[in-house]
Amino acid sequence: MNDLESIKNEALSAIEQADDLKIFDDLKVKYLGKKGLISGQMQQIGKLPAEQRKEFGALVNRVKNEVESALVSKKEQLEDRALDARLAQETIDVSLPVRESAVPQGSVHPVTQVIDECIAILGSMGFEVKRGPEIEDDFHNFTALNIPPNHPARQMQDTFYLQGAEMLLRTHTSSVQIRSMEHGQPPFKIIAPGRVYRSDYDMTHTPMFHQIEGLYIDKDIHMGHLKGCLYDFLQAFFGLDEVPLRFRPSFFPFTEPSAEVDIACKRDKAGVQVGQGDDWLEILGCGMVHPNVLTNVGVDPNEYQGFAFGIGIERLAMLKYGAPDLRAFFDNDIRWLTHYGFGGLDIPLAKGA
Ligand code: DAH
Repeated sequence: MNDLESIKNEALSAIEQADDLKIFDDLKVKYLGKKGLISGQMQQIGKLPAEQRKEFGALVNRVKNEVESALVSKKEQLEDRALDARLAQETIDVSLPVRESAVPQGSVHPVTQVIDECIAILGSMGFEVKRGPEIEDDFHNFTALNIPPNHPARQMQDTFYLQGAEMLLRTHTSSVQIRSMEHGQPPFKIIAPGRVYRSDYDMTHTPMFHQIEGLYIDKDIHMGHLKGCLYDFLQAFFGLDEVPLRFRPSFFPFTEPSAEVDIACKRDKAGVQVGQGDDWLEILGCGMVHPNVLTNVGVDPNEYQGFAFGIGIERLAMLKYGAPDLRAFFDNDIRWLTHYGFGGLDIPLAKGA
């Protein structure tokens, strides 16, 4: 009996003091293992005279339970402590810089880059950015732009009509001229970049491409302003000292007079280089806004006049950054995007200009 009492007291105080899992395991073996002290006491039960067995047996069992539950709670305590220690050691330093190689970097598509560049340059000249819907009606895409029904220019543009032919995918950003003017008051000085659609597909045509439209209407805007604006824009965009330009008479229903603008270029094995050479390359359409267009949006053409222009974004991107095949712009080939793409934090004019 006394043995049992002292085994119990010794066990409980040893368990109480155990402060690592190794000591804990040793104690478990020492008291409850097959040859452990409490197991030893259990074996004594059989050797006792029959009248003592019951009482002693109950006593040993109680001691065994007590020691067992002391061990269980000690174990929880030790495991909690070990976990706390590990967590304290494993804290993550969230202020460490990212390992660049571990994070795939996206890039800015050349179309986005060129649109940003155009906005930066024309924005600094005071043009305000406007957007219009890509799903358009006939009035804004054609009629208001002085392209009446059955006019051959409608065929020229290979329009995608939507079901019922009431709506269409806009064939040019010129529709945004109408949308900007119809609800506002002159003067208007806007640019409108965006997607346009035509049913066409080869090396230089894709069914979707991008344009940027310009419109400047005020009381005394003339063709000299148009020339100066385009000259300054192209000079900044291509980063040239001199910009040899040629204004060639042309036709657009919404401008009178109309012109196409060519920039001097050199073609050789390396591709096309703009700003020098004896060849010419068409880069945009422009003109003085037709009086009918102004009348269609409620602007008095006897009081107001101005110019408009439309430029193909992909054409600009190809010339400035040397991507030869238009179709590759929309293939989403990651190698092409990596090669021709731009860093997300680059300032729009940093390259080339
Ligand atoms: N909308 C014409 C096109 O898509 C481009 C254009 C030409 C726009 C002359 C204009 C302009 O604003 O004045 O081919």
